[in-house]
Amino acid sequence: MRRAEDDIERVLLSEEVILEKVHEVGKKISEDFDGKEPVFVGVLKGCFVFMADLMRCVSINCSVDFMAVSSYSGTTSTGAVRIDKDLRSDIGGKHLILVEDILDSGVTLNYLKNYLLVRQPASVSIVTLMDKPSRRKADVYADYSCFEVPDEFVVGYGLDYNEKYRNIPYVGVLKPEIYNN
Ligand code: IMP
Ligand code: MG
Repeated sequence: MRRAEDDIERVLLSEEVILEKVHEVGKKISEDFDGKEPVFVGVLKGCFVFMADLMRCVSINCSVDFMAVSSYSGTTSTGAVRIDKDLRSDIGGKHLILVEDILDSGVTLNYLKNYLLVRQPASVSIVTLMDKPSRRKADVYADYSCFEVPDEFVVGYGLDYNEKYRNIPYVGVLKPEIYNN
């Protein structure tokens, strides 16, 4: 059988390391948002595995919603973001926690944060599985970041390369020949 993980060169974050950290962050968010009933807003598709684990480590009352966005870097340096699926719930006066797989240039989350602020939520926070601060272009920071990672393209645990590898249970770096084909 040819497995998806045959294309992985090395493991960056193992399942054990990820789950231990996700527990810690879920507990911290539960303490910080005690009594506030936040709305967790997953940014699809990359968030889906992380969010499923994170939510089970959050012990306070909360709700869950999703947005889908596509980003195009194109030829401009700023990039453009398109909303493919918007929230179903009314977020006025609510505490929002955006859930991302990886904060890279920051263009996507910066756009999303400003887009949602127009609806006057009580607050907007960001939790990300990974942060690549060296690549930041937009002025946006994670309130909760599980792992700071180097400037390498990573897949697995929800993250893809050409829509593949999301089902790998850990985060890994792809073999260079996969890009060069
Ligand atoms: P940003 O707008 O540049 O911060 O990029 C945001 C999105 O690009 C992330 O939510 C990911 O979906 C995708 N992305 C950025 N870096 C990687 C990576 O190393 N692997 C897979 N997807 C990535
Ligand atoms: Mg994403």
